[in-house]
Amino acid sequence: MKFFADTADTADIKELAETGLLDGVTTNPSLIAKSGRDFMEVTKEICGLTEGPVSAEVVALDHETMMKEAEVLRKIADNVCIKVPLTIDGLKTCKALTSDGTMVNVTLCFSANQALLAAKAGATFVSPFIGRHDDNGFDGMELIRDIRLIYDNYMFETEILAASVRHATHVLESARIGADVATMPPKVIKALANHVLTDKGIEGFMADWAKTGQSILK
Ligand code: E4P
Repeated sequence: MKFFADTADTADIKELAETGLLDGVTTNPSLIAKSGRDFMEVTKEICGLTEGPVSAEVVALDHETMMKEAEVLRKIADNVCIKVPLTIDGLKTCKALTSDGTMVNVTLCFSANQALLAAKAGATFVSPFIGRHDDNGFDGMELIRDIRLIYDNYMFETEILAASVRHATHVLESARIGADVATMPPKVIKALANHVLTDKGIEGFMADWAKTGQSILK
């Protein structure tokens, strides 16, 4: 399972990239606004921090303008992945861009039928939003399960990018189902390493090691 960081915070991305655990980055207009930085400038910087895909989202709602924006965005770097909303115009843009070899992430997916359309449009990634689905009284994991089933039925190559991931259980369940990627806030990625018994084990080993009076580094 690939891990993407869902952020436009370059310090966090740099820190995660240095662990070797980061496979890409997703941004959206809200995350860009939160960064307080220029969209083009911050996206370029992020593209230099990871070799993996970096999703940069168009903000136009019509196909023609989406294509123009995508043209600007894809010039930023080779690893830019154009993010389009799951609308008919977004799907049309997805089809046009992927036919040209450009990576496309179809975002704001809230139903399996929408995901089916994204795959038919040749999307590189589809982003079902788990947390926002849960927030509205639906079962986000059920959505991932349905998409996995449908994509496997037809051997679609579109990767399922589990998005709007809020906690470790979303990651675990997505991995169980076989989502190809999970994009999550850096704090969720880091929290995956936490376990109370790991902390307790380290504490015990350190205490016993101290009793030996030895040191590995001379
Ligand atoms: C996905 O690409 C989105 O940026 C993201 O996962 C949205 O998550 P949120 O619902 O926590 O804002």
